[in-house]
Amino acid sequence: MKVLISDNLAPIGEEILKKAGLEVDVNTGLPPEELKAIIPDYDGLVIRSATKVREDIIEAATKLKVVGRAGIGLDNVDIPAASEKGIVVMNAPDGNATTAAEHAITMMMSLARNIPQATASMKAGKWEKKNFMGREVTGKTLGIVGIGRIGSIVANRVQGLQMKVIAYDPFMPEELVQKLGVERVELLELAQRSDFISVHTPLTKDTHHLLSTDFFANMKKDAMFIDCARGGVLDEEALYEALKEGRIAGAALDVFEKEPTTLEGTPLLSLDSFICTPHLGASTTEAQENVASAIAEQMADYLLKGAVRNAVNVPSVSDEVLAKIGPYITLGEMLGSLHMQIARGSVEEVNLEFSGELADQDTGPVAVAFLKGLFTPILQDAVNFVNAPLIAKERGIKVVEAKTQQSSDFTNLVRITVKTNEGSNMLAGTVFGKQEPRLVRLNSFCLEALPAGPMLLVYNKNVPGVIGALGTTLGEGGVNISRMTVGRQQVSEQNIILLNTDTQVPPELLSQVTQLDHIDSAMALQLPVHAA
Ligand code: NAD
Ligand code: MLT
Repeated sequence: MKVLISDNLAPIGEEILKKAGLEVDVNTGLPPEELKAIIPDYDGLVIRSATKVREDIIEAATKLKVVGRAGIGLDNVDIPAASEKGIVVMNAPDGNATTAAEHAITMMMSLARNIPQATASMKAGKWEKKNFMGREVTGKTLGIVGIGRIGSIVANRVQGLQMKVIAYDPFMPEELVQKLGVERVELLELAQRSDFISVHTPLTKDTHHLLSTDFFANMKKDAMFIDCARGGVLDEEALYEALKEGRIAGAALDVFEKEPTTLEGTPLLSLDSFICTPHLGASTTEAQENVASAIAEQMADYLLKGAVRNAVNVPSVSDEVLAKIGPYITLGEMLGSLHMQIARGSVEEVNLEFSGELADQDTGPVAVAFLKGLFTPILQDAVNFVNAPLIAKERGIKVVEAKTQQSSDFTNLVRITVKTNEGSNMLAGTVFGKQEPRLVRLNSFCLEALPAGPMLLVYNKNVPGVIGALGTTLGEGGVNISRMTVGRQQVSEQNIILLNTDTQVPPELLSQVTQLDHIDSAMALQLPVHAA
C-alpha cells in the first residue's frame, strides 16, 4: 500500500511508515492540479496545514482510505466529502500543546521587553536604548481566554513567573479552574483587569470575532494582547484600530484570519507595537516529532490492521457493531452537538437512557459518539471518537448510562439529559426505518426532526402567520428551507419550529428573525452531516 506525504513532516514519520511495510512518497508543495493527478495512486495521505484536501481532490482519490493530519487543525480537509467516500480523517491532537503554550509565553515576554523591535533597530545600525523601555511581568495579571489543554499549561508556567492568572472559559467546570489556581471571570472583566491577555480557544461559530472593538475598548491602556490559537477569534481590524489609536500598548499574533498573510492582507504589519510569527506555534523539533510519529503510527495501524485511532469522522468500532448500531452512533453524535448548542453554562452531568431492543446491544459507542458531538462545538478538531470520554473525565463530567427493554412510543429510544451549572435539557431521538436518525423530543416539545447540517431553532407563540413570516424573511435573506418541523407541547401557547436550511442563517438575518412578531427567540445551529 502507498502513502503520500504532501507537507513537511519530521523524518521520523516517514521512517515509521516504511518500517511498518508501507511504500512512501514524499512530494511537498504540489499545486492542487498536480496533487489531483497523482492522488489516485495512494491509499494514505499525510498532511499538515499546507495541503488543501478539497472535494475535487477527494473525488479524484479513488483508492484513498485515510487522510492523516500531523497536528490538530483540520480546516484544510473537506470532512463531509471524505466521510461520503468512506475515507477516514484522523489527526494527532496531543503532541504540540506544550510547544504552543511556550510560544504564547515567548510572545508575551517579547512584547514586554520589545525584543523584535530592538533586534530590528540594532540590525539597522542603531543603538536606541531609550526607545525600548520594557516592563516586568512579575506581579502582573495574565488573562487567559479558553483554559483548555494549552491555556492550562500557560497558566501553570506563568505562575512560576509570579503572575496572577484570571480566565474566561464558560465551559470549564469551576473546580478545575480553581485547581489550576486561576480565578474565573467574565470576558469584559478579563479585559478590564488584565495586564496581558492570551487567547487559547478554537475558532468556532461562537468564538468568531469574540474579541472585537468592545473587548479592546475595555482593556487597560498599557495592556498587551497575544493570540497563538486561531485567526478569526479576534477581529483584526478592531485590533488594528486599538493599536493605532494607542488604546492598548501592544499585540502579538501567531495566527491570522487569512494565512499566509502579508502587509496587503493585514495592516497590523505596519505598526511598531505589533509583533508576529508565521503560525510557528507548533514549530519545535520536539512537537513536530511528536505529531509526525503519532500520525504515522495511527495511519500504519489503520492501513495494515484496520484499527482506527483519533478519527474525527469514524467511530472506533468493529464492522459488526457498526452494522447493528451504526445509525444510533450517528444519532448520538447529532444529539450531543445539539445539546451543547442549546445549553447554557458548563456541563456537569450526562444521563443516557437506552430503551427498547437497543438495550440489548453494546451502546458504549453511542455514548462515545454523543460525547464527541457534545464537545465538538466548543473544542472543534481537538476532540475525536477516542479522546471524547477522556475529555469528559478530565472536565469532571459524570456520565451515567441506563437501559430498559421496555419501550414507550418508539421501538427504540435514546433519551439524553444534560445538566449544567445553569440548568438542564432533555433530548430524545430514534432511528426511522433502518437508517434515518430523528429528534423526537426537545424538553417538553414533541416533534420529528432530522438533526443534521445547518438548522434554525425558533421559539414562537402558537398563533397564525408566524410560519409564513419566517419563510418570507428567510427567503428574502437568501436562505432556502429544505425541511420544517413544528414541535408542540400538550398545553401551551408556545411552539418550537426547527428548520433545516441549505446554508447557515447569518447573524444579521437571525436578528431580523428574532424581531418578527410572536417570535420569542431564535438560534442558528450547525449539526454534523453524515453520509446516508
Ligand atoms: P482545547 O480544546 O484543549 O481547549 C480549548 C478551550 O477553549 C476549552 O477549554 C474550551 O472550553 C474553551 N472554549 C471554547 N469555546 C469558548 C468560548 N466561546 N469562550 C471561551 N472559551 C471557550 O484546545 P487546545 O489544545 O488548548 O488548543 C487551543 C487552540 O490552539 C486551538 O484552536 C488549537 O488549534 C490552537 N493551536 C495552535 C497552535 C499554533 O501553531 N499556533 C498549535 C497548537 C494548537
Ligand atoms: C495545529 O493545528 O496543530 C497547529 O495550528 C499547528 C500546525 O499548523 O501544525
